[in-house]
Amino acid sequence: MWAPPWTRPPNSCEPPNPCDRRAIPGRGPGMDSEAIPVHADLTLVVNGREHRLNVDTRASLLDVLREDIGLTGSKKGCDHGQCGACTVLLDGRRANACLALAVAHDAAEVVTVEGLADGERLSPVQEAFIENDAFQCGYCTPGQLCSATGMLDEVDQGWPSAATADVSAEPVLDDDEIRERMSGNLCRCGAYVGIVAAVRAGARSREAAEA
Ligand code: FES
Ligand code: FES
Repeated sequence: MWAPPWTRPPNSCEPPNPCDRRAIPGRGPGMDSEAIPVHADLTLVVNGREHRLNVDTRASLLDVLREDIGLTGSKKGCDHGQCGACTVLLDGRRANACLALAVAHDAAEVVTVEGLADGERLSPVQEAFIENDAFQCGYCTPGQLCSATGMLDEVDQGWPSAATADVSAEPVLDDDEIRERMSGNLCRCGAYVGIVAAVRAGARSREAAEA
């Protein structure tokens, strides 16, 4: 009869149950320290520059950006999809890079906080964060900036949110909409008042620039 690996005597030759994560080499109790990582080729276009990489197939996009490419702007707050500090734009949409398996995004276009500015010129949202004092420690700020940028694109495209009263109408970016749409990005410093004001101001600047 099959028994879980942690109850088996040493050197048991019974094959592991493939459905049990703890029995898979390299995962949790009973892990096989001799397990050899599997690598795969991966091409990413990050902030307009192509990177040809060979990465551990278990690596998250966040780790590849930070460890392989050297872009440390995207932050690892929780590594569990809870805080939003790792938010990047992945093929134009907001994504938690800590939850994205890098090899699943071969040939993807990624924009990190380092790619938001146009050379020395900050984006309207970045300017607005400075002008509205929208951060203290700044740890959450790269994710807030990418999230706000992606969120304003979503509003421009007419996407409703859970706070949109009339989903058939153009969304109106009031403070409730901003809070709801930015709710995936936590700030331990509690700079939310400044962040809401910054997103509001950034939206106005973008509109003015597009007019
Ligand atoms: S580090 Fe990705 S959501 Fe927290
Ligand atoms: S500014 Fe410190 S966590 Fe947001």
